[in-house]
Amino acid sequence: MKMVFKGFLAKIKKPIIGLAPMDGITDAPFRHMICKYSKPSFVMTEFVNVEGLARGAKKMLPAFLYGKIERPIIAQLFGTEPISFYKCAVFLCALGFDGIDINMGCPVRKVESKGGGAGLIKNPKLAVEIIRAVKKGVDDWVNGISLKDACVHENIICEAIAKGMMKENIGMLNRQMIPVSVKTRTGCDKVIAEDWVKILLEEKPAMIAMHGRTLKQLYSGRADWEVLAKAGRVVKESKVGTLFLGNGDIKSIREAKEKIKKYGVDGVLVGRAVFGNPWFFAGKEPTIHERIKVLNEHLEYFERLGCFHFDKIKKHFSWYFKGFDGAKKIRIELLMTKNPEEAKKVIVEAVKVIKKIKPAGV
Ligand SMILES: Cc1cc2nc3c(=O)[nH]c(=O)nc-3n(C[C@H](O)[C@H](O)[C@H](O)COP(=O)(O)O)c2cc1C
Repeated sequence: MKMVFKGFLAKIKKPIIGLAPMDGITDAPFRHMICKYSKPSFVMTEFVNVEGLARGAKKMLPAFLYGKIERPIIAQLFGTEPISFYKCAVFLCALGFDGIDINMGCPVRKVESKGGGAGLIKNPKLAVEIIRAVKKGVDDWVNGISLKDACVHENIICEAIAKGMMKENIGMLNRQMIPVSVKTRTGCDKVIAEDWVKILLEEKPAMIAMHGRTLKQLYSGRADWEVLAKAGRVVKESKVGTLFLGNGDIKSIREAKEKIKKYGVDGVLVGRAVFGNPWFFAGKEPTIHERIKVLNEHLEYFERLGCFHFDKIKKHFSWYFKGFDGAKKIRIELLMTKNPEEAKKVIVEAVKVIKKIKPAGV
């Protein structure tokens, strides 16, 4: 049987502990901080809508900015139109991504009700068409198709060139096959994880990452790792070669390793536990002094990229500033700021308060 193409995932060190994609959070500045202070097996971009991109919505491009330090990096797409997925796949190859992931797990009403994200679990026929479209996009790229011939929107091409996003990858020489993966949930109204992975396996994705909740559960209750273990077993027994990652509620690197062993999965994705903690993947608990140092660097990098709305970094402020007397007051002051200059003034004042706190272990 022809084995699945895994690209960088074939050589990845196990256990695999990757950064989960999180819209509004895992943008280029935060991924940069994570990769500087601890190194996940790979990172994923926030999800990007294929229909918007295919129609030339330039404002979506910053989600695909990345630096070398973030490699290996997988770009994530969501939507419902196979043709738009195809165009976006060709475009992402031109941007030099290490992999493309298809979102089949988003429970947000405006995504799922249109049939995208977790809505695709209800429509396996379309899910299959989408995987095929992305794979065809990658194949056509490898075989030399131009962005123009793939009907990638001119706006997007021009903007990506202007932003220097395609400079290393536009030539034929760098055209490489990249893996296509799926991130999903255990079902919609009820758990159908084992049957669902069987359908996905027919299309030989390089990796399936599964969040241990159904669409209906959103984020309530607990991720069901017994269900994930069963789905993982189906993947292993299929002998297709697809990697299976579990996801949900992991709080530490120790817990990640324990779950991988206990539930027999190839690896895990970690999401919310990294909030305010770019050291997560090194298994380190930062002191408040370290968090403030990183916050300043994060803000500096955010400003340097200069393409995200200031409000986007504010939630990170709240996560960095926690766990000491007076933290709440500082958080509120930071939330009221309107630009980096105002935030820096609050941070300078906050540092005076924090300096009086003894670093742990001193
Ligand atoms: C704020 C937020 C945004 C998210 N955005 C995405 C996304 O863009 N794509 C995706 O596949 N999952 C997204 N997720 C789901 C996470 O990747 C992950 O599956 C979920 O948070 C469970 O993992 P955790 O318990 O480790 O956080 C998001 C989750 C959160 C909390």
